[in-house]
Amino acid sequence: MESTQIVARQLAEQGAPEGTVVLAGEQTGGRGRLGREFFSPPGGLYVSILLRPPFAPARAPLIGVAAGLALAEAIQGLAGLRPVLKWPNDLLLGGRKISGLLIDLPAGSAVLGIGVNVNIPTAALPVELRASATSLLHELGHELDLESLLDALLLRFEARYVELCSAGPEPLLAAWRAAPNLLGQRVRVAAPAEVLEGIAHDLDVDGALLLRLPSGEFRRVIAADVHLLQ
Ligand code: BTN
Repeated sequence: MESTQIVARQLAEQGAPEGTVVLAGEQTGGRGRLGREFFSPPGGLYVSILLRPPFAPARAPLIGVAAGLALAEAIQGLAGLRPVLKWPNDLLLGGRKISGLLIDLPAGSAVLGIGVNVNIPTAALPVELRASATSLLHELGHELDLESLLDALLLRFEARYVELCSAGPEPLLAAWRAAPNLLGQRVRVAAPAEVLEGIAHDLDVDGALLLRLPSGEFRRVIAADVHLLQ
């Protein structure tokens, strides 16, 4: 398949119900955020989930917060590893990316796409990704059952999403804050209009990042690339 995200978007437009899941064993045109490519060889987990959230599209980043947390919980439960949640969309192990997610918003729906480097030898990663990406196979030293990981991810994501829809963002944000994450770290944030450096202070109620600038002023960041500084 070219991309589970493309198929799920088409299904969304055709009126498919919430909870529709599109799964691929590999993707020939995996999509990342900001129009980038997502390297998707066999051995990874590539899934898109169609949602019809009852809240405004401006709160869609919270779906990513829920999905990142659910995936981190699933990985911890199955493999005993504790990934770091790097806002807005990556999970890191040892500072290197094991997963990315994105959210598209076709009319009336949200399509959540999650890609995880599971059983991919690091030698199979393109050279330019080897410094910044890793896989669960590499970190664990053995393969992980893809189906078990998918089951755990879907179960935990459903629980977080239902909670978000019924109770609002606070329980989700509290759980996210309690998990390993980038809060308190110095970061460089490349937003569409500017590049900023500061301390990742907190998540706002809509999932935006609150950045504390050296001046002490706070800045809300909605869509950006974040680079962790030492
Ligand atoms: C990123 O890191 O920039 C986001 C990557 C999202 C990749 C997933 S894999 C399943 C779904 N299908 C795609 O084409 N992309 C998402």
